[in-house]
Amino acid sequence: MTQVRICIMLLVGMLILATTAFAAEVPITVQMESGEGNVLFHHEEHLVAANDCTDCHHMGLDAGGCRDCHGVDRSVALLKHAFHRQCRNCHIKVSGPTECNGCHIK
Ligand code: HEC
Ligand code: HEC
Ligand code: HEC
Ligand code: HEC
Repeated sequence: MTQVRICIMLLVGMLILATTAFAAEVPITVQMESGEGNVLFHHEEHLVAANDCTDCHHMGLDAGGCRDCHGVDRSVALLKHAFHRQCRNCHIKVSGPTECNGCHIK
C-alpha cells in the first residue's frame, strides 16, 4: 500500500514539474504589432477553442513561431495571409471576431 502511495506521489510531483517547466515557455498573450492596429492574441484562452496545439502550430511545436517561416521564406504564404487565414477561418466557424476592428485595435 505504501509503495503505491509513494508511486502516486512521485507521479504527481513529476507532473507538477513537467507542467511548470512547460508553462514557462508557453505565452499567455502575444502582442502583435501591425500598421492596421495592433492585435492582442490571448494565447491561453485560445487553448480552449482548439483541440490540439498543432491545430495552429501546424508544423509541430518544435518548428518555432509562425513568423519563423511565414514572411521569412518567400515560398511560404506571407505572415499576414497565414494569420488572416488561420485566425479568421476559425472565427468564421466558431463565432470569434471577423471584423477588422475585432482584432486590430487602433
Ligand atoms: C489558436 C491557435 C494556437 C493554439 C491552439 C496554440 N498556439 Fe501557441 N502560438 C500561437 C500563435 C499565433 C503564436 C505567436 C507566434 C508568432 O508570433 O510567431 C504562438 C506562440 C507560441 C509559443 C512561442 C513560440 C514563438 O517562438 O513565438 C509557444 C512556445 C507556443 N505557442 C506553444 C503552444 C502550445 C504548447 C500549445 C498547446 C498547448 C499552443 N501553443 C497552442 C497560436 C496557437
Ligand atoms: C516551420 C515553418 C512553418 C511554421 C513555424 C508555420 N508555418 Fe504555416 N506554413 C508553412 C508551409 C511550408 C506552408 C505551406 C506552403 C504555403 O501554403 O505557404 C504553410 C501554410 C500555412 C497556411 C495555409 C496558407 C495558404 O496559402 O492557404 C496557413 C494558414 C498557415 N501556414 C498558418 C500558420 C500559422 C498561424 C503558424 C503559427 C501558429 C504557422 N503557419 C507556422 C510553414 C510554417
Ligand atoms: C481554433 C479556432 C481559433 C483560432 C485558430 C483562432 N481563434 Fe481567436 N477566437 C476563437 C474563439 C472561439 C473566440 C471567442 C472566444 C470567446 O468569446 O470567449 C476567439 C476570440 C478572439 C478574440 C476576441 C476575444 C479575445 O480573446 O481577445 C481575438 C482578438 C482573437 N480571437 C484573435 C485571434 C487571432 C489573432 C488568431 C490567430 C493568431 C486567432 N484568434 C485564432 C477561436 C479561434
Ligand atoms: C482574426 C483576427 C484578424 C482579423 C479579423 C483581421 N486581421 Fe489583419 N491581421 C491579423 C494579424 C494577427 C496580423 C499579423 C500582425 C503581425 O504582422 O504581427 C494581421 C495583419 C494585417 C495587416 C498587415 C499589417 C502590417 O503592418 O504588416 C493588414 C494590412 C491587415 N491585417 C488588415 C486587415 C483588414 C483590412 C481586416 C478586415 C478586413 C483585417 N486585417 C482583419 C489579424 C486579423
